[in-house]
Amino acid sequence: MKFFVDTASLDEIREANDMGVLDGVTTNPSLMKKEGDVDFHERIFEICELVDGDVSAEVTATDFDGIMEEAHTLAKIHDNVVVKVPLILDGIKALNALRDEGIPTNCTLCFSPTQALIAAKAGATYISPFMGRVDDISSDGLNLVQQVVEIYDNYGYETEVLAASIRHPMHVVECARMGVDVATMPLDVIKKLLHHPLTDSGLERFLDDWADYQNQQKEAAAA
Ligand code: E4P
Repeated sequence: MKFFVDTASLDEIREANDMGVLDGVTTNPSLMKKEGDVDFHERIFEICELVDGDVSAEVTATDFDGIMEEAHTLAKIHDNVVVKVPLILDGIKALNALRDEGIPTNCTLCFSPTQALIAAKAGATYISPFMGRVDDISSDGLNLVQQVVEIYDNYGYETEVLAASIRHPMHVVECARMGVDVATMPLDVIKKLLHHPLTDSGLERFLDDWADYQNQQKEAAAA
């Protein structure tokens, strides 16, 4: 399973990268807004230079020509760029055209299995079902991802399932059990994957006992 970090913050990306488990990055316009006064294209370049993996950069045009123009500009920034395209009619047309040009894509804002099916037929490199946002409206984000995985497996689609809008470690566990290709998550969730209170208390006890043992050795040597 690949881990992507869902952020445009260089500090957060560095921290995730330093853990040695990072396979890529996803950004979106809202994450860019959080960064304040930074140039979008420059920031995407900086992220690509930091991370050895795919970096999703989103178009904001909603018509075919506009999406294609932005996609070409983004793809020129760096070889790691994956163009993020919204799951709308002109976005689907653009996915087809970008596939023909060999430009990798991440089809974003997927909330139904039918949308995911269309994106795969259009040749998206990644499909991003938004689990947390589905849960937010009292529906079942895991079930959405499960359906997408099942449909793609049935037909051998090459589009990779990139579980997005992940809110907590159990989303990641369930995605891993389903064989999802990629999970993109905030840094905070990546860090939580590591924690277990029994590891912390177990380590504390081992270190205390080790200190006692060393004292015993010293006392024995001095006797
Ligand atoms: C994915 O590519 C999106 O950027 C992201 O996962 C959206 O997450 P959110 O619902 O927490 O904003």
